Amino acid sequence: ADLVLGAEVFNNNCAACHAGGQNSVINERTLQKGALEQYLAGGFNVEAITTQVTNGKGAMPAWGDRLDEFEIAAVAAYVFDQASGNKW
Ligand code: HEM
Repeated sequence: ADLVLGAEVFNNNCAACHAGGQNSVINERTLQKGALEQYLAGGFNVEAITTQVTNGKGAMPAWGDRLDEFEIAAVAAYVFDQASGNKW
């Protein structure tokens, strides 16, 4: 997946609640590796991120009808890369 596209999708759609990999709604549910391992349904992997982005969860909206499959794949790969590399 395209990490440059993923960064653009993230900045345009996700940063409102997840600026810098944080979570302004439920503070401990960040996009950092340790939080994803603890809270993300399905564990710390691209598929689990893709599922949550597509379907939403709780106060997080679903993106499956607003982003196309390439945009979702790109943003999931970007979040995984940022988290696995401790880039935020
Ligand atoms: C949780 C990604 C947009 C609110 C999460 C998690 C991921 C994620 C991977 C799991 C974090 C964890 O469990 O530690 C994204 C992406 C977005 C996006 C890639 C853009 C496509 C948003 C927006 C909001 C939001 C715009 C606010 C309106 C939340 C909330 C949670 C969450 C409240 C916690 C859900 C729960 O476990 O109850 N997000 N998010 N997200 N996100 Fe987002």
